[in-house]
Amino acid sequence: SFTPRVFSGAQPSGNMHLGNYLGAFKNWGKLQDDYECLYCVVDLHAITVWQDPARLAAQTREAAAAYIAAGVDPERAILFNQSRVAGHAELSWMFNCVARIGWLNRMTQFKDKAGKNREKVSVGLYVYPTLMAADILLYKGTHVPVGEDQKQHLELTQDIAQKFNHDFGREVFPIVEPIITGEATRVMSLRDGTKKMSKSEPSDMTRINLTDDADTIAQKFRKARTDAEPLPETADGLDDRAEARNLVNIYAALADLPVAEVLGQFAGKGFKDFKDALVDVAVAHLSPVTGEMARLMGDPATLDAILDRGAEKAAALAEPVLDEVKETIGL
Ligand code: ADP
Ligand code: NA
Repeated sequence: SFTPRVFSGAQPSGNMHLGNYLGAFKNWGKLQDDYECLYCVVDLHAITVWQDPARLAAQTREAAAAYIAAGVDPERAILFNQSRVAGHAELSWMFNCVARIGWLNRMTQFKDKAGKNREKVSVGLYVYPTLMAADILLYKGTHVPVGEDQKQHLELTQDIAQKFNHDFGREVFPIVEPIITGEATRVMSLRDGTKKMSKSEPSDMTRINLTDDADTIAQKFRKARTDAEPLPETADGLDDRAEARNLVNIYAALADLPVAEVLGQFAGKGFKDFKDALVDVAVAHLSPVTGEMARLMGDPATLDAILDRGAEKAAALAEPVLDEVKETIGL
């Protein structure tokens, strides 16, 4: 049996946003009560697409600051950046030799991210899910809180663990379980309710960044696409209204209320009124987070010291696992 252990992470590709916060960071703090937790800034994942070398270190600090501002406690959880523990890259190579090309070919996120450019994107972007499996299994992680968007990658992690254990006839790795928490775990773009809010959206106006001030948040929500219908009585009245549904989900998640309760409060009202209320809830909830992030980012030496200490602790956990894996493979 395996020690319950949580692993999660986000890419330091700049523009930490409301989707990252509601789908990930906000939930991470709570897990510290029940699990040993590792929260990683996955900089090796970030470089699967171009990152400006002059900005990457600052983006790594921004991500770490976002984790802490959202409730991650570096005294209780291990907070570090991926490239500081060499085992991630090492284990991912071994997993490249376990995973099958057909498995990777089925990954929808690669298809989304590569688009028509399939032949021109990096090999790293293609094998991204095997690195993610290594991130988790390097620590024998048992539970992974992820947004809906990462579910398929987590299934690949399970497949890799299963095949490794089976091929070598040893229970080396646990089969990880997803923890999918809360309403609105999938936050969509403010322009198109069928696309997820993402760091890589071309316009800043369709994404609430965790560094946005109150005026910017208000402006973005007021410009968010909706429709002319009032809010419905029940959630099925949001079917085929992706943008409307998204704003209701965001409200519910920020106010920590079930969607039914939000609709009970706003049914029959138009989106102009609803957006005013949404702005109030969003600003009230996010301004302490934004403020704490700004304070932390103003003190890079302290953030670097936290990341240094986290990397030491993570490396100490990884070392015996990597030894066991190599011994199992015969390396
Ligand atoms: P991005 O997709 O913006 O590049 P990451 O891949 O770094 O973000 O994801 C970091 C975490 O944030 C993951 O747990 C992911 O599931 C979550 N996440 C990212 N975008 C969203 C979203 N729009 N809604 C909910 N969760 C999200
Ligand atoms: Na993602």
